[in-house]
Formats: sequence, C-alpha cells, structure tokens
Amino acid sequence: MTTMREDITPDRFRSVMRHVPTGVVVVAATTPDGAPVGLAVGSFVSVSLAPPLVGFFVAHDSTTWPRIEPLGRFTVNVLADDDEATCRAFAMRGGNKFAGVGWHPSPMGSPVLDTALAWFDCTANTISDAGDHRFVLADVHDLSARPAGRPLVFCHGTYQRLGDGS
Ligand SMILES: Cc1cc2nc3c(=O)[nH]c(=O)nc-3n(C[C@H](O)[C@H](O)[C@H](O)COP(=O)(O)O)c2cc1C
Repeated sequence: MTTMREDITPDRFRSVMRHVPTGVVVVAATTPDGAPVGLAVGSFVSVSLAPPLVGFFVAHDSTTWPRIEPLGRFTVNVLADDDEATCRAFAMRGGNKFAGVGWHPSPMGSPVLDTALAWFDCTANTISDAGDHRFVLADVHDLSARPAGRPLVFCHGTYQRLGDGS
C-alpha cells in the first residue's frame, strides 16, 4: 500500500523520527547589552570540511533565534552526557535560561558553556527556508573539544548515554 503524503501527519512523522538519534547542542549568542541567549538544538550537522561549515535547523516559532540572527554570530556548544539539566533549561521557551549556567566568551565574543564537551565559534553564512524551519549554514572560525567525555544523545524521546567508546 502506498502512503499518501497527506497521511503523514506531524504525529506520524514524529513517531518515526523518534528512532533517529541526535546529539544536542546549545546555540548561543551575546546580545549587544551583554546578555547571553540560547536554545537547545538537535539538528546540528557537519556540512563541509574545507571550507569548514556546519548547519542546523531552527523552528519558525523560536523566540530566541530572532534575537541571534541579526547578530550574525553565535557559538554551537555540544552538550556532554552529564548535562541533561542544561539541555532541559535551553529547551524551554523564554525565561532566563542562563541562570546558574557558567560560561565565558569565545574568541568572537559568543558564549561558551563551561560544561560544553566541544564548541564551535560561528558566523551565519546562508539562512534559507526549510518547511516550518529555517536552515542555518554557518562558517566555523574556531573550535575546540575536551580531550575526554561523551556526548548527550536524544533518542526515543529520552536522553541517553553512549555505551562503549570515548
Ligand atoms: C533534544 C532536543 C532537540 C531540539 N532540537 C531543536 C532543533 O533542532 N531546532 C529547533 O528549532 N528546536 C529544537 N528543539 C526545541 C527548542 O529547544 C525549544 O523549542 C525551545 O523552547 C526554543 O526556545 P526559544 O523559543 O527560546 O527559541 C529541541 C529540543 C530538544 C529537547
């Protein structure tokens, strides 16, 4: 039986996509008044090695992204598997998500979370519409990773830890 495209409801789409594991990052920026802002993103992906490009998708109804986009610069902070609380805080809408979160500025002045497993210092390259999201293609200007630690993984609607490996 062939599935009709109109039968692919958001709930059905989610029920299949929940089997696809993703890492979790916090995309963050420093506003002109010095306040850090950010949101949790699971759609982060490596795009190009030379030049170094990364990308992610942001929902049209994000309230934080419209504060980041005009700045044109941001960090991508990869969360470690002991940092579930940070992910939950940045997946909330509104409020001061940085309350109690340690951070320091990247070389370009965007927030690097003290607990990040890895971070990328980025500027926006191209932003394009992608259904109910926007695709943000970004240039990487600097990056770093802790020598040890494992990434937080989101799959089957829960936070998971990787087993063997580093
Ligand atoms: C594991 C996980 C992955 C997420 N991935 C994305 C994503 O890729 N893009 C996105 O726009 N929102 C994503 N979200 C949802 C946002 O973090 C959430 O909508 C947040 O409330 C947005 O806040 P804002 O309104 O302050 O922008 C994700 C949330 C979780 C928990």
